[in-house]
Amino acid sequence: MRRAILELLRKAAGKYLSGEDIAARLKVSRTAVWKHIKELKNSGYEIESLSRSGYRLVNTPDKLLPELVQCGLENDIIGRHIEYFDEVGSTNVEAKRLASRGAADGTLVIGECQNTGQGRLNRSFFCPRGGIWFSVILRPPFLPQEAPKCTLMAAVAVADAMRSLKLDAGIKWPNDVLCQGKKLVGILTEMSAEVDQINYVVIGIGINAVIPAESFPADIRDRAASMSMLLGDFNRLDFFRQVLRNLEKLYKTVKAQGFAPLLTRWRELSVTLGKEVNVLGINEQFSGKAVDIADDGALLIDIGNEIKKVYAGDVSIRPKN
Ligand code: BTN
Repeated sequence: MRRAILELLRKAAGKYLSGEDIAARLKVSRTAVWKHIKELKNSGYEIESLSRSGYRLVNTPDKLLPELVQCGLENDIIGRHIEYFDEVGSTNVEAKRLASRGAADGTLVIGECQNTGQGRLNRSFFCPRGGIWFSVILRPPFLPQEAPKCTLMAAVAVADAMRSLKLDAGIKWPNDVLCQGKKLVGILTEMSAEVDQINYVVIGIGINAVIPAESFPADIRDRAASMSMLLGDFNRLDFFRQVLRNLEKLYKTVKAQGFAPLLTRWRELSVTLGKEVNVLGINEQFSGKAVDIADDGALLIDIGNEIKKVYAGDVSIRPKN
């Protein structure tokens, strides 16, 4: 109902619509309309009410509210269902909870800000307002060992959306999207599976969208940046929709054709391949040249006498200087 009222107000293009008119068109009482308008105002919509004229939509909030995200999205999997939080601990935690209760393939969990945002390797992640913090629940038909490649899918979706805004985005294996050497995006993929079947995959994506430079904590200031720092003003909501469209397209391609086309695009966007890197694992450290990504998503490192395979969950990669 809330969405239907918004749609009518939006179509009225800034003109007043009477409560009576809205009520008649949606077959509800005028009191119900009034209640929904009150709720919309509480969510941040600027709606003018004039006693004889009715209601007029003046402004929509700068938020990633489900009805705004879905408007013009036209995806049939990613974002068909959205769970929204103005403030949340971690969207990945919420997504896992929803997934274990049966949430559908493509369900999104969005948080305007996260108080306990989780990063890879048990690190915390800085998630203030203005960023885009969300998790996607997937129920892919492929085998559990393929799941880490969902991370690559997310990285390609975001990097390509950034490139359509003329940002020179590249992917640092496996999950960081960088611009001008600074991290703009982190991705954390988690999974629940049986031996031969995935129950669900949760891809958590954190994008430093509109965050002023001075907000970043001192310890990450030299390594991280935001899109607004590099681009100036841009439309966060439009950009988010583009990421979701890219994700949908990649997910459908992967389901239909496997990961090969995705890996081709990933290689084109990679800033890791061809570079000398240090690999820091729990039990070992070594350096070598990152030469390729294997069909299973592992990074292949040429250490001189051997090609070593490293997996995303186990290591962090640093440029060798
Ligand atoms: C990393 O680079 O270490 C991964 C960071 C992943 C952050 C995102 S933000 C949305 C989702 N919810 C979380 O708690 N983490 C991921």
